[in-house]
Amino acid sequence: MNAPEILAGAPVTDLPDGHFIDGAFTKGASGALMDSYDPGRGSVFARFTNGTEADVDQAVESARIAFQSWARTPAVERATILSNAARLLRESAEQIAIVETLDCGKPLNEALADVRGAARTFDYYAGATDKLQGDTFPLPHGYLGYSVFEPVGVTAHIIPWNFPISTAARGIAPALAAGCTVVAKPAEQTPFSALLLADLLTKAGLPAGVCNVVTGVGANVGAPLVAHKDVDQITFTGSVTTGQHVMRSAADNVTRLVLELGGKSPVIVLDDCDEQAAIDGVLGAIFENAGQVCSAGSRLVIEKGIHDRFIEQLVARTKRLTLGHGLRDPQVGPVNSVQHLAKIAGFIDRARGRGAEVLTGGAITTDPETGQGWFYEPTIVADRPCDDELVQEEIFGPVLTVQVAEDREHALALANNTQFGLVAGVYTSDVSTALQMARDIDAGQIYINEYFAGGIEVPFGGNKLSGFGREKGLEGLKSYCKVKSVAARIGAIAKSW
Ligand code: NAI
Ligand code: MG
Repeated sequence: MNAPEILAGAPVTDLPDGHFIDGAFTKGASGALMDSYDPGRGSVFARFTNGTEADVDQAVESARIAFQSWARTPAVERATILSNAARLLRESAEQIAIVETLDCGKPLNEALADVRGAARTFDYYAGATDKLQGDTFPLPHGYLGYSVFEPVGVTAHIIPWNFPISTAARGIAPALAAGCTVVAKPAEQTPFSALLLADLLTKAGLPAGVCNVVTGVGANVGAPLVAHKDVDQITFTGSVTTGQHVMRSAADNVTRLVLELGGKSPVIVLDDCDEQAAIDGVLGAIFENAGQVCSAGSRLVIEKGIHDRFIEQLVARTKRLTLGHGLRDPQVGPVNSVQHLAKIAGFIDRARGRGAEVLTGGAITTDPETGQGWFYEPTIVADRPCDDELVQEEIFGPVLTVQVAEDREHALALANNTQFGLVAGVYTSDVSTALQMARDIDAGQIYINEYFAGGIEVPFGGNKLSGFGREKGLEGLKSYCKVKSVAARIGAIAKSW
């Protein structure tokens, strides 16, 4: 399977159309299939299983049984399997990236970077597996106190459509490293890479039942999975509204929870910055994956001294961005679904009604080669007030809203003035200013002079409506561990009553 052949109309074959349960692909209890769309052409390219609660029950049962032995598998053996998975991911990176691009829409080089990033995630947590060690506590003479990290058990992973393999890997790899088992539910828009990953993990040596994938829609698969009494931990990435449902449902069983719910992140550009680095940074921050990134830099908070010159260059660069089917590897691909396209367009149509000035873009379009697909022009909207919908709401598309700051204090106030707190970027050549901003911005992570800087080593997660809990880094392992403290009397004691 290669990109030119698929673009020329060759059918995509060999994709799994079942769930992955207990170490093998299996048909769902109902046998029903549903369509997966290629957003670059706006047409169906494959079918997959439309799962049900019965399928969820089967997967959770399989994960529960597998947990008994996986939790006791020596850490070094778990590490070897995760390392094997990283190697297999690298070996099949091109093929998985093609599937990811078809399912999700993103440019092929971005999909390839996602698959390689997923491999790096498995390598990182392979290395952490045998370093999960507890503490000893300084109790009085005659006592011994220590803690151990125990795996929490069966973990549920609800995965969104914007970074399917990355999000799957950043949840599944630490869960497996900690000794947990997995039931993952990919988004109904992008089911395939999680299925391919589960199969690959089995080829890497993972025992049957340790990692299961159930496909289907949120209401029929996601909801019963997060409500399941035998699930011990939920990692959810997606919208605030669905996250709130998941949290309510988790409350019924007091299930542990990590919520990663997106944002409205600022890129602060100050007068004294390196302008070219800042322009490159802002373009990547909002137009990577057509802006469908939870940590997208969707607000440009710019100091007024640099504003006119910077915006002129930014708009000129934006107009030159290439658009097209992801397999042709343009700079900007389609958005993921026709419904999502309408949602993005609605934001701009309403903004025009409020008198907003659209500096570039602002319209639905198609792949210039074929006239097909679900595309939105890379868009920049001039200075909007704080209470504007474009400043407050997550659009999740290629739309950058400008906010002009009088000075640094004002820039900071603008940056913090939303309900979200996922990430923020700061461009300045003054180290003190950068570090003061990093201190004073309410967000889970701050990028200084390079938006999206960092990798799997750096913990990631949000504040405020962006959620809670942290993924990635050693911090990300803790979601999948229970700390047990042991205090023992081991000799004569002084105390008496
Ligand atoms: P969503 O939050 O409904 O979907 C995310 C995942 O949750 C999917 O796998 C879906 O099947 C599942 N899900 C849906 N209902 C569920 C339920 N009741 N219980 C358990 N799982 C359920 O997001 P949707 O509708 O795809 O996108 C809407 C908006 O959400 C986007 O426009 C964007 O603003 C935001 N979003 C944010 C993401 C992020 O990375 N933080 C990712 C995807 C969407
Ligand atoms: Mg799709």
